[in-house]
Amino acid sequence: MLNIIRVTSDEQFNEVGASIIASLLQTNPRANLGLATGSTPVGVYNKLVELYKEGSVSFAQAHSYNLDEYIGLPSDHPESYRRFMNDKLFNHVDINLENTHVPSGSKEHPEQAAKEYNQLLDAAGQIDLQILGLGHNGHIGFNEPATELHAATHVVELEEDTRQANARFFDHIDQVPTHAVTMGMGSILKSKQIVLLAKGESKAEILARALMGPLTTQCPASMLQTHPNVVVIVDQAAGELL
Ligand code: GLP
Repeated sequence: MLNIIRVTSDEQFNEVGASIIASLLQTNPRANLGLATGSTPVGVYNKLVELYKEGSVSFAQAHSYNLDEYIGLPSDHPESYRRFMNDKLFNHVDINLENTHVPSGSKEHPEQAAKEYNQLLDAAGQIDLQILGLGHNGHIGFNEPATELHAATHVVELEEDTRQANARFFDHIDQVPTHAVTMGMGSILKSKQIVLLAKGESKAEILARALMGPLTTQCPASMLQTHPNVVVIVDQAAGELL
């Protein structure tokens, strides 16, 4: 079931997103959080840091599992997703870094890294709340449009469009990694609740395709229509075609 929450400002977007995560942690301090990178969740993470500083939420017993990681960037590279999560959230709240998990982008053994991450997810059981952004081509995590989608964590070759969309964070497109490791569709869809975040005009069309179009592996986010508990937070621009 899809529950669409329309917001009218960035402030409201971030507040709604952060309050869903904070309420979960208040009722279940040991929750397994599925976290996402990209620019869309940044404000939500900032808001969570504020809530933590006010004493309204604690991550002390929480565990986190990130969706994806570039292959070939050192983990302290400014654009690695591990570094992103440390900078935007983990270093500013009371989460135990040992309980935070981001797939390894090891260049030498990417397949092995994917396998190990999958084992970790299996051992964790269910993710209580999975945060998702939306790629312009309908990808979630780095599950790119394809004739077949993978259920488990796997290595993926990034589409040219995806590399271009993410080139804004690098000095040059040549520096954007060509491959990534991503949680698979099975792991994402197994989450108890999913919160999909979409902001801005550039997401309007793909969001409408994902939520109202046919289920197709060519738009991985369309698979969310099969999930029993999805909350979609959209601003006016992204929600224009819904
Ligand atoms: C990247 C990430 C996705 C993210 C997407 C959208 O490709 N792997 O997890 O959802 O970008 O990013 P943004 O929120 O910056 O539009």
